[in-house]
Amino acid sequence: MTKVLYITAHPHDDKQSYSMAVGKAFIDTYKEVNPSHEIVNIDLYKENIPEIDVDVFSGWGKLQSGKGFEDLSSEEKAKVSRLSELCEQFIAADKYIFVTPLWNFSFPPVLKAYIDSVSVAGKSFKYTEQGPVGLLTDKKALHIQARGGIYSEGPAAEMEMGHRYLNIIMQFFGVPSFEGVFVEGHAAMPDKAQEIKENAIARAKDLASTF
Ligand SMILES: Cc1cc2nc3c(=O)[nH]c(=O)nc-3n(C[C@H](O)[C@H](O)[C@H](O)COP(=O)(O)O)c2cc1C
Repeated sequence: MTKVLYITAHPHDDKQSYSMAVGKAFIDTYKEVNPSHEIVNIDLYKENIPEIDVDVFSGWGKLQSGKGFEDLSSEEKAKVSRLSELCEQFIAADKYIFVTPLWNFSFPPVLKAYIDSVSVAGKSFKYTEQGPVGLLTDKKALHIQARGGIYSEGPAAEMEMGHRYLNIIMQFFGVPSFEGVFVEGHAAMPDKAQEIKENAIARAKDLASTF
């Protein structure tokens, strides 16, 4: 069965957030078109997403030095096993939909913590003599992002580091298809905000029927 991860990095819901509204339009349409697919929402603001901290490093260090899992402290056990669970869930999925706002030219920090949990040598990529090679070559990904200004063209394009970062990570993992749906410019052009949102929702619904 096709497994889809709907990964939302927003503290608000679709009523208050443009990206979440477009994300909801996408996933609702996707569910209608693909009723048999398994869709799991990873709400990064509600899930336990451990940061790589001193417990994680010491836990990993013990395991690498040949100690058993039972030798880890309770903090080390909890964080190391949760990170591993997130990674296994990620590599077992077929499709990823990321939903984020643009905050200070990037995405909310909890998404970086999540990416750190799934970026694991031997799982999402591997090292070879020719350099690192992605292992997720049969996946598909989409990023739905709301941003107050215009970044798809013009002078600000190179300042955008959220979508561009996800693009690089997906390439690094070997994911062959990564698309974007952007709601952009509504803060810069508030009189056009409703139209901008409706256009993005229409694009998201269109894409959902073929994604
Ligand atoms: C903390 C914060 C930082 C932001 N930084 C940017 C930015 O760098 N560039 C931009 O165009 N808009 C920025 N904005 C505006 C948001 O991108 C815009 O409101 C967008 O709609 C947020 O997504 P949302 O509607 O899903 O919450 C920022 C908003 C917040 C709250």
